[in-house]
Amino acid sequence: MKNGSIITIESLIKSFPIGGGEFTALNGINLTFAKGEFSGIVGPSGSGKTTLLNILGSLDSPTKGHTNVLGTASDQMNPRVSAMLRKKHIGFIFQTYNLMPVYTVFENVEFPLLLLKTPAAERKKAVLEALEWVGISDKVKSKPPQLSGGESQRVAIARAMVKKPDLVLADEPTANLDAENSHHILQTMENLNKELQTTFVFATHDEKVIGYLRRIITLEDGKVVSDKNIKK
Ligand SMILES: Nc1ncnc2c1ncn2[C@@H]1O[C@H](COP(=O)(O)OP(=O)(O)O)[C@@H](O)[C@H]1O
Ligand SMILES: [Mg+2]
Repeated sequence: MKNGSIITIESLIKSFPIGGGEFTALNGINLTFAKGEFSGIVGPSGSGKTTLLNILGSLDSPTKGHTNVLGTASDQMNPRVSAMLRKKHIGFIFQTYNLMPVYTVFENVEFPLLLLKTPAAERKKAVLEALEWVGISDKVKSKPPQLSGGESQRVAIARAMVKKPDLVLADEPTANLDAENSHHILQTMENLNKELQTTFVFATHDEKVIGYLRRIITLEDGKVVSDKNIKK
């Protein structure tokens, strides 16, 4: 891997079988990300943003080409390795939240720390802190079906950030948030990025998010059409 980079993507192709043929969602992607980047994949709906994020999060695998995420190459990936990588190092914010409906907000956010066997007192402190980051401390005992879309999204963000992972992958994290909550959460993420050198990769087409990014990678029809560093 290139010195200082924590993600490399080489000649990545991802195709999906559709009705006898196949559809190429990512068509020859080459990218590297350095530790501590605050970057985003932008582009119109259907351009391949979610597909790329899923591959970076080892939720899906390349059809052709290679990736290396935090020292784990796509060629070495198997379900155990990818589960370990996600458990220890990656926080994933899904477009559809993926909260567990029968558990409380507290338990949902606590879950990544249970997997890491974090001691109870430390867990409680970290969960309450993460809920404060996203401004939803008053809902600790609620369950996801009782929450609005925006509240669910904030819980999903707290769950992704609670273990202070090396890498946060965020798929349209502000899609259901009003402007005030979006800015609050983006500032929280920016602070984590600065304090802990957490690397962020967003998939977004929200101008509010784009305004915070220090690197903007534009996808069109599964190809990178521009890659710009933004001076702040
Ligand atoms: N599992 C799948 N099977 C078939 N086609 C898919 C699948 N996942 C994504 N696609 C297609 O790949 C393209 C890119 O999708 P996606 O990565 O979700 O785009 P974006 O997140 O930028 O809106 C779309 O045309 C979508 O329909
Ligand atoms: Mg998407």
